[in-house]
Amino acid sequence: MNRRIWIVGGSSGIGLELVKDGERVVVSSRNASRSNELATLEVIYEEHLKIVDLDAASEDSIEQAVKKAWDAFDGIDLWFYNAGAYEVMDINTWDYERFEQMTRVNYLGAVRIMTALMPLFKRTGRGRWVWNASMASYIGLPLGGGYSAPKAALVNLAESLQPELLQYGIELQIINHGFVKTRLTAKNSFEMPQLMEPSEAAEHIFTALKEPYSFEVRFPFALGFFLRLLRMLPYRISLALTKKALP
Ligand SMILES: NC(=O)c1ccc[n+]([C@@H]2O[C@H](COP(=O)([O-])OP(=O)(O)OC[C@H]3O[C@@H](n4cnc5c(N)ncnc54)[C@H](OP(=O)(O)O)[C@@H]3O)[C@@H](O)[C@H]2O)c1
Repeated sequence: MNRRIWIVGGSSGIGLELVKDGERVVVSSRNASRSNELATLEVIYEEHLKIVDLDAASEDSIEQAVKKAWDAFDGIDLWFYNAGAYEVMDINTWDYERFEQMTRVNYLGAVRIMTALMPLFKRTGRGRWVWNASMASYIGLPLGGGYSAPKAALVNLAESLQPELLQYGIELQIINHGFVKTRLTAKNSFEMPQLMEPSEAAEHIFTALKEPYSFEVRFPFALGFFLRLLRMLPYRISLALTKKALP
């Protein structure tokens, strides 16, 4: 398809797999230019791959990076926000700074970039924005709230913006997927149902990005069904069930 894609959060895990799609890709993250994996891919994809460092948690970094990413291929067809931060915190280890960092990366970074991209996409009158949220956005689970609360905010914002953006030809899409074996989930000590390899998750995402537009992309089916069901139950039942996840 040879679209011009900007992946924010593409230096490891799922994002790194997405870089291998073979389209024209600008890849960003805090350490993108220091990544050996990306340096190898740069040799393979040559002119089809550009690297722009960006810290989604820093306002200064974003303005410059948006300009560089836009100019790299003279426009962007698809912006993929994949940056994510995850820390497990219980109320005894609660740390505001870690919470703030997760909020900056999982939520505010997307909003900052969106704000800078908006006039450029509106002028073009078409394009797709894809935000990688998480099935964790469906319901707050014990010890994961610092991660899932900003993800839920991201999904709520997307629901609110989608109809308006569509009027300008911008298709906003969210991805809610389950557990993937990356450095983020390496922090989990519990058994993760339907855990996938990053390449498998990327395969689902590639397919979704080539299909006609729909607002939400969700996989795997069983975990998504279970968590959405939990969301729909009365709180006295759902919270009694999630309590069982406490260590
Ligand atoms: N793994 C899962 O089970 C799972 C499940 C549902 C959703 N997700 C979501 O999938 C996305 C990718 O996660 P992953 O599991 O592949 O983890 P990962 O390997 O840690 O990848 C996270 C990416 O985000 C980048 N990043 C982190 N902080 C950043 C910042 N401040 N500014 C710019 N980039 C930043 C990282 O690069 P640098 O360190 O170079 O900045 C890296 O490229 C995340 O949004 C995550 O929430 C993951």
